Amino acid sequence: MKIDNKKAVVTGGAGFIGSHLVDALIEHGYEVSVIDNLSGGKKENVNPQAILHVADICDYEAIAPIIAGAQYVFHLAALPRVQYSIDFPQETNKVNIGGTVNVLKAAQEGMVKRLVYSASSSCYGDTDIMPTPETAPINPKSPYGLQKYVGEQYARMWHSVYGLSTVALRYFNVFGTRQDPNGAYAQVVCKFFKQKKDGRPLTITGDGEQTRDFVHVSDVARLNIMAAEHEKDISGEFFNVGGGRNFSVNAIADMVGGKKEYISARIESRNTLADITKVTQTLGWTPLVSFEDGIEELRKEFGA
Ligand SMILES: NC(=O)c1ccc[n+]([C@@H]2O[C@H](COP(=O)([O-])OP(=O)(O)OC[C@H]3O[C@@H](n4cnc5c(N)ncnc54)[C@H](O)[C@@H]3O)[C@@H](O)[C@H]2O)c1
Repeated sequence: MKIDNKKAVVTGGAGFIGSHLVDALIEHGYEVSVIDNLSGGKKENVNPQAILHVADICDYEAIAPIIAGAQYVFHLAALPRVQYSIDFPQETNKVNIGGTVNVLKAAQEGMVKRLVYSASSSCYGDTDIMPTPETAPINPKSPYGLQKYVGEQYARMWHSVYGLSTVALRYFNVFGTRQDPNGAYAQVVCKFFKQKKDGRPLTITGDGEQTRDFVHVSDVARLNIMAAEHEKDISGEFFNVGGGRNFSVNAIADMVGGKKEYISARIESRNTLADITKVTQTLGWTPLVSFEDGIEELRKEFGA
């Protein structure tokens, strides 16, 4: 049933994670406005019950009236690829930091109850601490990792200086349907399925023994809503968000199935594995969709 006065704004709501979050919010009875400039996201991803505003988070005047009066803002809009940020540091800095400051200011001025910021585990860089807790040293290895961390610190500051309630969720690798499998910046799981579908070998960077912690997009969407609605004051808190298990790229290729081709290594973390104790104990969240089930869902999406 639809509940009145439940207005939520999702920046980046035409993208991969944002569009799943929009669906989940609508299921929870929210009226949802999406702010997205469609640079990476697609109109087709946006639930028809949501209002799509094609606007740029770098344009404060355009976004402030959309954000004003919302109960919750979920800030996901970003240029989110590591290699892209290495290639285009100025453009990504402008969106990932400057755009975030605009969204925070608009939320504060618009009397928003809480803002949930999509942060990234890339802030930990190539840590040896496995599983990685929130207390691990911050050591980003790319402009993207640094920018997402600066955005997160700005979100914390908007609480300490301006009184806006903010929470940050540091995602490890999020996977699921609607992820873009094309181009040099595609994420490994959907890239493998696309390659398999196209009858091409699965391209593995380096020796393929690097490992990744994957969390399903539906679990991430559910957590965003739990963090927004949480009754206790969790302002300024930040949480690791992962599946709590990791898989090597070689193992993922075996699960997808098909011929493998090894190509040169690129700048990336060797291993990632989230310690999710804090989010579990504080918010009562645990992932519900296993990596294996998520793989089977993608196999159906790609027909591969
Ligand atoms: N996918 C992951 O594994 C992962 C991991 C850690 C953190 N994150 C974070 O989660 C968020 C969502 O990531 P995603 O994987 O869904 O990426 P995505 O590229 O699918 O979505 C990002 C959305 O932001 C929009 N956008 C980009 N620049 C914009 C601008 N200037 N103004 C308005 N909209 C703009 C894009 O059009 C796109 O729809 C990002 O903040 C990302 O840093 C993602």
